[in-house]
Amino acid sequence: MSTLEHYKKRDWSVHPVSGASQPLVPLKHTLSEVTGPVFGKKVATKLDADLTKNAAKKGQEAIGERMILTGLVTDENSRPVPGALIEIWQTNAAGLYSHKGDQHDAPVDPNFYGTGKCVTDEEGRYRFITIRPGAYPITRLGNRWRPAHIHYSITGGSFAQRLITQCYFPGDPLQADDFVFQAVENKAARERLIVKYAPEHSVKGYAAGYQFDIVLRGRNATPMER
Ligand SMILES: [Fe+2]
Repeated sequence: MSTLEHYKKRDWSVHPVSGASQPLVPLKHTLSEVTGPVFGKKVATKLDADLTKNAAKKGQEAIGERMILTGLVTDENSRPVPGALIEIWQTNAAGLYSHKGDQHDAPVDPNFYGTGKCVTDEEGRYRFITIRPGAYPITRLGNRWRPAHIHYSITGGSFAQRLITQCYFPGDPLQADDFVFQAVENKAARERLIVKYAPEHSVKGYAAGYQFDIVLRGRNATPMER
């Protein structure tokens, strides 16, 4: 197999509808897509992966329900992807982003910025400590709310393995009314966007564990964001 045949075509049935008037045209991968960045461990420190502390003043931490958020990153052949850069961003516990453009009337948490990053280990595993985000209103759509979610950017071993997505939480009634979540028309694919309670990753007396696995390509790919 030549390098340019390394990645199979995406299966678009698991991804959100594009809204384009013409069908999408698959292009052959170029050399610059199948080669790409290689991230060393130095790209992210231990503190970068702890959102409860990475923006907090000394001796303080973010307010909210702590959680361990971990998962495996695999490719289309279920092989682990070590050395992938995982970046996440989210609201604080009250549903407010640390961004001037966020007009949501919700309290600021001075000890929480809402971004973190880490690099997957040899088994393709990533791990964050964070707090559960809040829902926020989308007033341009009327009286609508986005369910709690965490944004992900994953950059694997090449740019063909780049994925932008969001994870959600079990049992959130706002998902039924969410235009982003519902844009993934395939129900099984939508369910892959919901984190699973994973007590084996809980830290006793400190934080409950949740698992969100990411498949970069292929039939079981994690749906990407529209
Ligand atoms: Fe968001």
